[in-house]
Amino acid sequence: VSLLPYNTFGIHTTARYFGTFAHLDQLQELLQWPGAEGQPRLILGGGSNILLTRPFDGIVLKNELKGISVVKEDDEFVYVKAGAGENWHSFVQHTISMGVGGLENLSLIPGNVGASPMQNIGAYGVEIKDVFESLEAWHIEDKFLVSFDAKACQFGYRESAFKRQFKDKFVILSVTYRLRKKPVFHTTYGAISAELEHMGIKDLSIEAISQAVINIRSSKLPDPKKVGNAGSFFKNPTVSESQYRVLKSTFPEIVAYPLEHGEFKLAAGWLIEQCGWKGYREGDAGVHEKQALVLVNYGDATGDELFRLSSKIMQSVQTKFGVTLEREVNII
Ligand code: FAD
Ligand code: EPU
Repeated sequence: VSLLPYNTFGIHTTARYFGTFAHLDQLQELLQWPGAEGQPRLILGGGSNILLTRPFDGIVLKNELKGISVVKEDDEFVYVKAGAGENWHSFVQHTISMGVGGLENLSLIPGNVGASPMQNIGAYGVEIKDVFESLEAWHIEDKFLVSFDAKACQFGYRESAFKRQFKDKFVILSVTYRLRKKPVFHTTYGAISAELEHMGIKDLSIEAISQAVINIRSSKLPDPKKVGNAGSFFKNPTVSESQYRVLKSTFPEIVAYPLEHGEFKLAAGWLIEQCGWKGYREGDAGVHEKQALVLVNYGDATGDELFRLSSKIMQSVQTKFGVTLEREVNII
């Protein structure tokens, strides 16, 4: 089965077996299918955070679990549950139309609801962990349903237990978000307040913030429908205060944000741009001309070519700055 329609990097490769599930019993059937026993499995959502580096010699299970419902309500919050196969941005828009706040800064992130806890998706000053209530997951080997609260998910920056000790152990079936009846606005992220001003917004609202985020994202991130990509290819690295001081004295323009405990987060896009990679192209593999943190496939690049390009970028950032970049995209 061709995986071309199922990955936003636009990599031409195949899977030995492919199945979709819209209900838990369909998932169970697929997992028990004798042909796939003992074979590698890949649970797939929108395919917007993976790089396929070779044909997948196993079964790809594409999740199409749908449904959005209010499961609980109290004075402050509405708890909205969404099936893992719901499109993330449509879900965000749905909550905005309900008038409940919390997800507006995360507008226009590609992919599905089920992948949102995987790397604790984040943008423009908000991460899902801030509004996450719980998720339901299926334990693949031991065949039971389990509910996770935020603590059990161990969310971090672009991290969760599902990328570490629970990797490949669970299928996430639904996620419940705790959204505010009286929204609290997050506009401290520089670009948002500038865009709201540019839009001439006088009365702040979740609609306005969502639109501001959509405008900013559309202006600098490549549309996967036009050019293959998976968003930021690397994480923004964290360095100690002393390492930051040394870097700052050698590179006064370095872009960094102070974290708790005295550490600093560096803008990887800046580091990569300084190494001369922005707009670089080798065959069909390249570095986006407006955002050096995004690798792009101009058409026929292979996953392996993109992976090798990412290794070269990591090496040059290491040599110039002594900083180790980590890939954010899931390498399959
Ligand atoms: P997939 O790519 O299908 O899967 C990602 C990983 O999660 C895989 O390892 C997969 O096996 C696993 N997985 C998926 N669904 C399930 C499930 N139900 N159960 C168990 N495992 C599962 N991310 C951000 O955080 N912030 C951004 O601002 C952002 N901007 C982006 C912009 C662009 C243009 C693009 C292309 C990507 C961007 N991303 C961003 C990355 C991506 O959108 C997110 O990581 C998104 O959550 C991926 O969802 P998906 O359904 O496409 O996941
Ligand atoms: N920069 C450069 N050159 C570049 C790109 C960036 O100098 O080519 C510098 C600029 O100074 C800019 C700063 O880096 O001000 C930060 O850039 P940007 O605001 O574009 O954000 P980012 O740090 O590159 C992160 C996330 C994005 C998220 C945005 C907005 C990571 C790995 N990436 O990008 O998430 O949308 O912030 O919050 O944390 C993703 O995960 O796929 C993703 C797109």
